[in-house]
Amino acid sequence: MTHRPLEVQESLEERCNRILRNMEASLTARDRVGIQDFVLLDAYTSESAFLDNLRKRFHENLIYTYIGTLLVSVNPYKDLDIYSKKQMDTYMGVNFFELPPHIYALADNVFRTMLSEFNNHFILISGESGAGKTEASKKILQFYAVSCPSTRLLNNVRDRLLLSNPVLEAFGNAKTLKNDNSSRFGKYMDIEFDHRGGAVGGHILSYLLEKSRVVHQNHGERNFHIFYQLVEGGEEELLRWLGLERNCKNYRYLVQGDCAKVSSINDKSDWRTVRKALSVIDFSESDTEHLFGIIASVLHLGNLKFEADARGYATVKNNQEMQWVSKLLGIPGQVLQQGLTHRKIEAKTEEVFSPFSVEHAVYARDALAKAIYGRTFNWLVNKINESLANQDSSRKTVIGLLDIYGFEVFSVNSFEQFCINYCNEKLQQLFIQLTLKSEQEEYELEGIEWEPVPYFNNKIICDLVEEKFRGIISLLDEECLRPGEATDLTFLEKMEEKIGGHPHFVTHKLGDKNTRKTLERGDFRLLHYAGEVTYCVVGFLDKNNDLLYRSGKEVMQHSKNGIIKHCFPSSEPDTKKRPETVVTQFKNSLVGLTEILMSKEPWYVRCIKPNEAKQPARFDDVLVRHQVKYLGLMEHLRVRRAGFAYRRKYEIFLQRYKALCPDTWPNWKGTPAEGVRCLIKHLGYKTDEYKFGRTKIFIRHPRTLFATEDAFQVCKHQLATRIQAKYKGWRVKEGYLKQKEAATKIENCWRGLLARKERERRAWAVKVIKRFIKGFMTRNQPACVDNSEYLAYVRQNYLTRLKEILPKTVLETDSWLTPPPILKEASQLLQNIYTRYLVRQYVREIAPERKSQLLLKAQTSSMFKGKKENYPFSVYRPFVDTRIALEDINLKVLQTVQQEHIKYSVPVVKYDRNGFRPRLRQLIFTQEAAYLVEETKIKQRIDYASLKGVSVSNLSDNFLILHVICDDIKQKGDLVLQCDYLFEALTKLSVIADKQSCIKVVQGSVRFDIQPGREGFVDFKSGQESMVYRAKNGHLMVESTRMKSR
Ligand SMILES: Nc1ncnc2c1ncn2[C@@H]1O[C@H](COP(=O)(O)OP(=O)(O)OP(=O)(O)O)[C@@H](O)[C@H]1O
Ligand SMILES: [Mg+2]
Repeated sequence: MTHRPLEVQESLEERCNRILRNMEASLTARDRVGIQDFVLLDAYTSESAFLDNLRKRFHENLIYTYIGTLLVSVNPYKDLDIYSKKQMDTYMGVNFFELPPHIYALADNVFRTMLSEFNNHFILISGESGAGKTEASKKILQFYAVSCPSTRLLNNVRDRLLLSNPVLEAFGNAKTLKNDNSSRFGKYMDIEFDHRGGAVGGHILSYLLEKSRVVHQNHGERNFHIFYQLVEGGEEELLRWLGLERNCKNYRYLVQGDCAKVSSINDKSDWRTVRKALSVIDFSESDTEHLFGIIASVLHLGNLKFEADARGYATVKNNQEMQWVSKLLGIPGQVLQQGLTHRKIEAKTEEVFSPFSVEHAVYARDALAKAIYGRTFNWLVNKINESLANQDSSRKTVIGLLDIYGFEVFSVNSFEQFCINYCNEKLQQLFIQLTLKSEQEEYELEGIEWEPVPYFNNKIICDLVEEKFRGIISLLDEECLRPGEATDLTFLEKMEEKIGGHPHFVTHKLGDKNTRKTLERGDFRLLHYAGEVTYCVVGFLDKNNDLLYRSGKEVMQHSKNGIIKHCFPSSEPDTKKRPETVVTQFKNSLVGLTEILMSKEPWYVRCIKPNEAKQPARFDDVLVRHQVKYLGLMEHLRVRRAGFAYRRKYEIFLQRYKALCPDTWPNWKGTPAEGVRCLIKHLGYKTDEYKFGRTKIFIRHPRTLFATEDAFQVCKHQLATRIQAKYKGWRVKEGYLKQKEAATKIENCWRGLLARKERERRAWAVKVIKRFIKGFMTRNQPACVDNSEYLAYVRQNYLTRLKEILPKTVLETDSWLTPPPILKEASQLLQNIYTRYLVRQYVREIAPERKSQLLLKAQTSSMFKGKKENYPFSVYRPFVDTRIALEDINLKVLQTVQQEHIKYSVPVVKYDRNGFRPRLRQLIFTQEAAYLVEETKIKQRIDYASLKGVSVSNLSDNFLILHVICDDIKQKGDLVLQCDYLFEALTKLSVIADKQSCIKVVQGSVRFDIQPGREGFVDFKSGQESMVYRAKNGHLMVESTRMKSR
């Protein structure tokens, strides 16, 4: 990972400054009153300065102030608008010192520390009665209820956790002189969280309920709230069923303090809350029935009166109350009466019932009432615990809330105050151990330079109370258990005897003159860490024994009431063996509590009561100073000031923050201490901000740590993103590699396939080529296996090629593809077929006129082709129907020949038979005869029948000689003619006269008849130029140029 140390360092610095700025900025003018953290107090050793700050802030309704992480809370005795949902949101997830002090800040800090360090914590809320402990614990619980992640299931747990409070308060709290809602039992509540911070369950431990309150209350005090709530708020029908009247004054147990009605308490609405809460925390109908049955039966018991019979033994005076108790607890009246008025004594083999005196009966009745109520209270706590129990066994972390009775000093202090104050001594001892002592011991152990802070260690008082054999508790127990007449006074004497010299113990007898004045004879005084308390020994033994006569217990075992049955099981250990005394039980439970607390991280809320009058805006200096003193706040401040706010084992610190330095992330190779050194250097801690111990680093100011934590929070997200990115990258890369591998595999397979195909193709090609070559070599041999394919190929190839280059016309005879030898014959046949085909095509396409033309040309061809030299030049000259239009023939001539139908006429040159003079004439062929016409005269008519023959030379001249039969001398002889259209004229003649066979092509010379018996000759020869002349031999010489045949 890439770090930018400067940036981190800078941001750390900046962060510190920002926090300070924010702290400043977020402070309203009001918030600026005094100092928010006593650690910042200049005169930190001055109690007056401390008090001034507290007072100043209190008068501005700023009830919270820190001493480091310890929260000091002063009871405002009025509702402040600082517990809204908005406030909760403000404090959620914000560093402790970033906002003004608040119980929510502490709760949030504990919660987040628990989540990040995954360890257990407890918040010790201490202070004297009425200082606001219970309220503080409720605020914390409410904060968790809102701030924790919620699901339907978790909401259920949340509701139960919240609603367990009003129920426990109804049964365990009462109005005292000090507090209208004083907790008369100690309460330790564990809230269990899962790893996401969801509240998943809870568990409550209760300590020493002040049972004596059930039967007796001092003036101005009340019994437990539930009695008043039931009487005031209970529905008519319920009250009728319980045999109660809606008037507290009717019940003896409710009126001793003479203040059944208190303005600050609304019993009616509290009753409704309790009823609702009971249903949420899984109380069935019968549970509530039984529960209220018990509460009512206690009230009835209280009203039971006894009177002495003739023998002085107690009898029940008001039977009706008896019957109600009997009904409500489901115990037969007889049995109940017997139990209330007699004591069972076991004498050897038999049991004897010894009757009570009235006084004894009252005592037994009260004992029974106390026992019933006390055990019911325990049952209630267990029942709530069942409802809060978390079923899931996975590992949980807890935040414990300890709301235990505060130090109490009344005008008359009894056994209960002794226990309560002892408890406070124990908690102070724990506080000392966890903070003052352990802190200083730790500095010493870690070799940190340190100026010891003096503090009063109350161990000496704890020892005075609890030391084995010599402590007050041991002496009390001894006195309770020893045979013989032990009384409260003998107990006092014993104390004087055994611990008389102890500096924290004094009695009337032991005290000096002045002390005696303040002590009664039956009193003893303890110098508690919190101050002097004078206890009156009266009742100590009794209360410690908590005797419930055996018969009383047995009576309860008859009960049909489910809760009573459960609370007084018939299998209860034999009463012959003495049960543990109350104080020993209490001592043991405190030992258990100490163990629980010692295993957790402590946080403190110190509650201070500003005045005794429960009034707002009154700050009684003396009272507060006293509390500040005994709560050890000054010592705590001094230790805080001198010390270090935060320390952690090197391993743990490094483990958490190693991500903030590139050298320590992800793994540090050296020792953790060196790692932390390196980390701190990187973070730029100033030298006075920290110290290195032997195994731990000590950080002086919380803000340094918070800045580091903030940097870590930022870095954590970056890291998470990095890790996420790395992981995603890795996953994608893995995927890519897999795909690549698959692609390569497919490619390989595909290439293999292609190669195999190619190989097959080549093998095939080789085979084909081989066969081809072999075929080629044996192509001229007769068809055999070797050449059959080749020949087939040759054939096919030839035919295919032939098909492509077939001649387009018949004339292209020489373009026929030369066939291979084997196809010669076939080719010839094909050529013939094709030629015929072409001819047929050609013929089909010829028009009738052209056809007749061609027929004529064919005729000409058959007559002259290859015979006469100039024939080829005539071929392309088309024949026409006639060379002389009818109009050009003389009308006279026409009239003569018209009937014979003129077929053809052509101009000719006629050579006289004598002299061979050339004369222009018209030659006309009719159906019957050929006419030689000169203008208007028909010079000669030659009947076709008399046409003997026609001679033409083989040369290129245009001469024709018509030979006629000439029988008569008068008749004209043969005609020597020259015609430009020789071939046309002759062809026409041959067709018209059907004289084809008589047309002769001759060489050399032609003899002709000039007259019958007189012959003439025409000689033909080739010459340089065309000439016609009479040769010397009298022959007509026709010389014609030689023509190259085309
Ligand atoms: N934060 C607060 N805001 C307003 N009123 C408060 C606050 N804290 C306490 N009080 C008042 O003080 C009274 C006594 O407080 P609380 O019951 O918490 O005292 P306590 O310390 O539990 O006393 P005890 O030891 O007798 O049980 C409350 O009933 C309430 O009227
Ligand atoms: Mg309380």
